[in-house]
Amino acid sequence: MSTSTAISLDPAAINAIAAMRTRLPKADPLARLPDIHPCKIPRHIAIIMDGNGRWAQARKLDRRQGHRAGAESIRRTLNECGKLGVEQLTLYSFSNENWKRPIEEVTAIMELFSEQLSLEAANFVEQGVRFKAIGSRERIPFELAEAIDAVEQVTASQNGITLCLALNYGSRAEIVDAAKSLATRVAKGELKPQDITEDLFSAALYTAGMPDPDLLIRTAGEMRVSNYLLWQISYAELHVTDVLWPDFGVPALHAAIRDFAGRTRKFGGLA
Ligand code: FPP
Repeated sequence: MSTSTAISLDPAAINAIAAMRTRLPKADPLARLPDIHPCKIPRHIAIIMDGNGRWAQARKLDRRQGHRAGAESIRRTLNECGKLGVEQLTLYSFSNENWKRPIEEVTAIMELFSEQLSLEAANFVEQGVRFKAIGSRERIPFELAEAIDAVEQVTASQNGITLCLALNYGSRAEIVDAAKSLATRVAKGELKPQDITEDLFSAALYTAGMPDPDLLIRTAGEMRVSNYLLWQISYAELHVTDVLWPDFGVPALHAAIRDFAGRTRKFGGLA
């Protein structure tokens, strides 16, 4: 019997696919990756989308065109993640540090976010995508903040894949904000310091209620985590690819998932 036939007959695989389809009726991980057991599909994938500038530079294009091509990669990746039964995709779209870029580039990125959100809102609703943005609203242009609120609201009750954009996001700032909110509750007498647990701390982060990422992908080859989801990626598997974000597509995503599926996750224990 071939590996893929054996997997498709395994009751655990059948159950995993049935569970995926309660949220994503079109999920068919075995049709996409026949050699990967559906239980090995990451529930939550986080991505550091890097390399838009290098992609543009290599084609003698403006960096802004690199970001525009990056938006297409997001579409491809989200679509494929839905077919694979992935529950959440979290994308590092703009960091707190990205404000240091030239104003023309920052403005173009913000306009691209607004444009793409308006373009995609109806598709999200149709496909059951739940949209969430994490990060600070400070300095976010008013029109973009409004578009984010509108798409979050209209998709809030959907239970397909969650698309989470980390926008004006920095993990240290998120952790400091969480510490401040817990300290405020302690000062008000609502909470005792000894009652602060890891779960309570997690619930004070922007990502409250979301599962931690299982797989962190970074494109464009740099081996660093760049202030991204530092608390949440404690036990994530890391996959760094040289592929530049605008070139990222189904083959690169499948390669990352195959890499992930081959890892033994021990969470500090024994295999
Ligand atoms: C990193 O590449 C990319 C960004 C800072 C912006 C990410 C934005 C997009 C993918 C555009 C579309 C997004 C949405 C949500 C519609 P880089 O510019 O740092 O590349 P480089 O390291 O090669 O210069």
